[in-house]
Amino acid sequence: MADLKYLFNPRHVAVVGASHKEGKIGHTVLKNIVESGYKGKIYPINPKGGEILGIKVHESVSSIDGEIDLALIVVPASIAVSAVEECAKKGVKFAVVITSGFSEIGNIEAEKEMVEKARANGMRILGPNVFGIYSASAPINATFGPSKICPGNIAVISQSGALGIAMIGKTAEENMGLSTIVSIGNKADITEADIMSYVFNDDITKVIFLYIEGLENGREFMELVKKKPENMQIVAIKAGRSKVGARAVASHTGSLAGSDKIFDAAFKQAGILRAESLEDGFNWVATLAACPKPAGKNVVIITNGGGIGVLAADACEKYGVTLTSDMELLKKTFENVMPKFGSYKNPVDLTGQAGGAEYREALERALNEDNIHAIIALYCQTDMTPLEPLMDTFIEMQEKYGSKKPIIYSLFGGEGTEEILEKLKSKGIPAFGDVEDAVSSLKALYTAYEKRKEEKMDEVEMDEEKIRKVISSVLEDGRKQLLGTEAKEIMAAAGIDVPPFRVVKSIGEAVEVAEEIGYPVVMKVVSEDIIHKTDVGGVLIDIDDKKEVIEGYEAIMRNCRQNVPKANIRGIEIAKMVPHGVETIVGATTDSSFGKVLMFGLGGIYVEVLKDVAFRVAPVSKREIGKMIREISSYPLLLGVRGEKRKDIDSIIDSIYRIGILVNRFPEISELDINPLMVYEKGAKALDARINIEVKK
Ligand code: COA
Repeated sequence: MADLKYLFNPRHVAVVGASHKEGKIGHTVLKNIVESGYKGKIYPINPKGGEILGIKVHESVSSIDGEIDLALIVVPASIAVSAVEECAKKGVKFAVVITSGFSEIGNIEAEKEMVEKARANGMRILGPNVFGIYSASAPINATFGPSKICPGNIAVISQSGALGIAMIGKTAEENMGLSTIVSIGNKADITEADIMSYVFNDDITKVIFLYIEGLENGREFMELVKKKPENMQIVAIKAGRSKVGARAVASHTGSLAGSDKIFDAAFKQAGILRAESLEDGFNWVATLAACPKPAGKNVVIITNGGGIGVLAADACEKYGVTLTSDMELLKKTFENVMPKFGSYKNPVDLTGQAGGAEYREALERALNEDNIHAIIALYCQTDMTPLEPLMDTFIEMQEKYGSKKPIIYSLFGGEGTEEILEKLKSKGIPAFGDVEDAVSSLKALYTAYEKRKEEKMDEVEMDEEKIRKVISSVLEDGRKQLLGTEAKEIMAAAGIDVPPFRVVKSIGEAVEVAEEIGYPVVMKVVSEDIIHKTDVGGVLIDIDDKKEVIEGYEAIMRNCRQNVPKANIRGIEIAKMVPHGVETIVGATTDSSFGKVLMFGLGGIYVEVLKDVAFRVAPVSKREIGKMIREISSYPLLLGVRGEKRKDIDSIIDSIYRIGILVNRFPEISELDINPLMVYEKGAKALDARINIEVKK
């Protein structure tokens, strides 16, 4: 296979379908290549011959003498396959097939044939149905998008061609520097994973801006992301939010696992920043591209206006950005630059008359103070001081210190302020009109550099033989859904605390087991045909003595025979009745892209109405499970409210951890719910469980 370096750094290129007519795609691609300052030989190919843009046109690729690394294919779909074949035979290393009209409109065969023809001669294909490729290292702009692209350290990889072209325009307007921009189109051969692997080691990219609509193999993608260099960051926009609960499935976990929530979880686990909007995405990417890793948490806001300072402080609280409140540090740093009526409390208020000189003094002191790790510089237009020196100060500070410490600017005001903003942006300085954008971008910077250690997975003991036996007997029985008692047997074998229970088939046995387990007990009908047991009178709680067991047994049998006459009743479950704690729900499901996924939430209305749940791709470390638990909004209830004591969160972590290991060791478990997992001050017990199995042939 050819090395991707020839795709990004082609020595000589051909444009197959280079058009004589200005405005046509085949003309624009050639023009962009020429105007991008490409140093290698350019071969326009067109049977009509002649010259385009002063370059000699060749009638065919095979008629060229020299070597070609990259061919841009810009002829209609009907002749694109033969054009690709000719390139492959000539020994071209890569073809970027801009042509549309293949698998995206159902023309799958032609696309397959094109790849086969290419592969037969060792050529690889990007596309078809792409806008081309830009690579700063060549440099080459072989796209039909805008001609002006600033070189820089941001790689844009897009699953959408049209959006990719728009992104070229936007990055040009914002003066964002690109290392590359690629769309993957129909991914007939080269995939986003191939492109990312290359970009990880291209020595220029610092930030990847990814637009994705879906991933065929999310798990593989997560593995790939682990290989990125530590200081390279990925910001992703994922389109196509699917509706939570749209799937009709038996378990809670399955119905709550709208794939979008799983993407959220997987991105978080992989350390990818997910932006909700293109605007956020661009802001974050610009900040990550410009700023170094913050050396610590202490952030200082420097402002000339109290109001805007408070807005920024509020935003810091909202996003979890730490404003230092070390008064000694603040006093030492800023006391001497303050007018008497100013304030060195954070936000540091230089007051309305502060101009370029005052900002320079304050910024420089903050930038030279090791215990201040990042700065948000705010300016609110006052017309008390000229704007020009202010802008010069900001640019000077960035040039002197920008690579050592993050400085994020937010400027608010009229025309003059807008001009400064534009100027700062054009120099690659993270500057925003809205304080909220500034703070959200600083938060993104902090999140991006959060340490994500490869964590050790603890060994857990499980009675695997028992689990295997239960699953086989269910399969032999021709069922896919386990009885509650079977599911609990598996839970217990996996090391999860399950209150003692047994299935009985007679009144005598019921009494014997109840006495052995100890009162109070719960009695439940055991039948695969009765799903909503309570609704048919198949459950009795608080059974306190022998008399109640006998009456209860008869009542349950009577109710079930009456309400579900055809049900196969296997017996009655007698289980130890346990006290009430905090009801939680732990689950696992199987996602088509990410595989086994875990879920946690509080039971009852929290899960059913508020859908307050968190997901993770399994298996996960205990530390990550801790984060998952803290993610739900109802988490404070586990910490104890209204005088209650803190619940045993470690027990929940242990149970979820075991479920993660269980579903990975037994992939045939397609869905699983423990509902509820009752949590106490000490311990957590699985009172009810549901498991579905699916054996892949
Ligand atoms: N080898 C080389 N050039 C050939 C050729 C061959 N065998 N046969 C014809 N040509 C020339 C044509 O003469 C023409 O040049 P001219 O304008 O100087 O006459 C040029 O190739 C283009 O062919 P044409 O038939 O005019 O096609 P077109 O420009 O109308 O369309 C595409 C070609 C590829 C742009 C079009 O088919 C297409 O797919 N458009 C969509 C592209 C797109 O949106 N991609 C996805 C982006 S995200």
